[in-house]
Amino acid sequence: MTAIVEAIDLVKEFDAGGGMLGKGKKVYAVSGVSFEVQRGETFAIVGESGCGKSTLARTLSRLIAPTSGDVLVQGTSVGALKGRGLRDLRSKIQFIFQDPFSSLNPRMSVGALIAEPMEVHRPDLNAKQRRAETAQLLRQVGLRAAHMDRYPHEFSGGQRQRIGIARALAAKPEILIGDEPVSALDVSVQAQVINLLADLKTEFGLTLIIVAHDLAVVRHMSDRIAVMYLGRIVEIGDADAITANPRHPYTQALMSAVPEARIDANRNPILLEGEIPSPINPPSGCRFRTRCAFAKAICAEKIPLLETTKDGREVACHFHKEIPVSDYGSETQALPEAAKRRFALFRGAVNARKENKTQQGEYQ
Ligand SMILES: Nc1ncnc2c1ncn2[C@@H]1O[C@H](COP(=O)(O)OP(=O)(O)O)[C@@H](O)[C@H]1O
Ligand code: SF4
Ligand SMILES: [Mg+2]
Repeated sequence: MTAIVEAIDLVKEFDAGGGMLGKGKKVYAVSGVSFEVQRGETFAIVGESGCGKSTLARTLSRLIAPTSGDVLVQGTSVGALKGRGLRDLRSKIQFIFQDPFSSLNPRMSVGALIAEPMEVHRPDLNAKQRRAETAQLLRQVGLRAAHMDRYPHEFSGGQRQRIGIARALAAKPEILIGDEPVSALDVSVQAQVINLLADLKTEFGLTLIIVAHDLAVVRHMSDRIAVMYLGRIVEIGDADAITANPRHPYTQALMSAVPEARIDANRNPILLEGEIPSPINPPSGCRFRTRCAFAKAICAEKIPLLETTKDGREVACHFHKEIPVSDYGSETQALPEAAKRRFALFRGAVNARKENKTQQGEYQ
């Protein structure tokens, strides 16, 4: 089976820009990332702010070109695409942005915002068809057809994100990439939007690639998770396996640092000490070594490569066989209460969808 999206040794380096610190230096944002996403899968990319998630997501959809490496979409290299080929790719892969306030042009009506991708990618539709489809899309994302004549500022953050999702769907994509699609929203609204995405995935037969800094957001909606640290994947595999038994020291720390977990942490969470190092000058060898409790001399010398473990996941750590495996259990029962509540919030959203319970009333 050909993967619908394949990243091959992707590298993205930026010029660090002028100024005392940056002159002549590079930002190593993404440093050799490879993975495959299968059709119909929900694939999550997780890691702290600054680890290169947005850069990777933008490279996948060719919003930016990689420094080296390639992206294959349905087996075709996107690096060489131009003109019509690139336009086709753009309709196939659509993007949902993090900030629903800045990503929608305030001067365009909701109807015009949703019709725009249809004009670009589906020129066969006439104005009447575009209007009918816009009305339908608005209903499918939980808004009303009458909202078409209103403007983005009249809506809440959650509703604006729904408009952004309708706009992405208007191009009839096969792949939807969400770059932290709920992180700017209130916690109560986050679960609703995750629920909506899971629903639309089934309804439209989509492949979802979701970027998040919070494991709780993606755990229950994802089939597989890739954990990123400073531009590299450190652990990748089945979403349940990785969250129940994280093996890489960074994934273990990320699990116990789920938002709110710090507030009433009562189970010795492995708190991440210090800031994520600068990607302008990443640590040699294992990039996590400056914050890793298990680091030894070899960690500074040799880059750990991804190795497949018995359960089929891949881990990039020289000592993954010796480091104790965290056991959070299938329902994360070993986590502190607040973290458990956060996981449950998103599990509830996904389960409600599975049981076909529709939410009543206006979405906030
Ligand atoms: N256009 C750019 N020019 C220079 N540096 C950039 C640019 N875009 C991102 N970066 C840097 O690349 C690193 C990764 O950024 P990003 O991909 O946005 O991470 P994340 O989405 O995980 O927060 C950061 O250090 C960021 O400052
Ligand atoms: S390779 Fe070394 S520094 Fe990196 S995660 Fe493993 S033990 Fe820690
Ligand atoms: Mg980002």
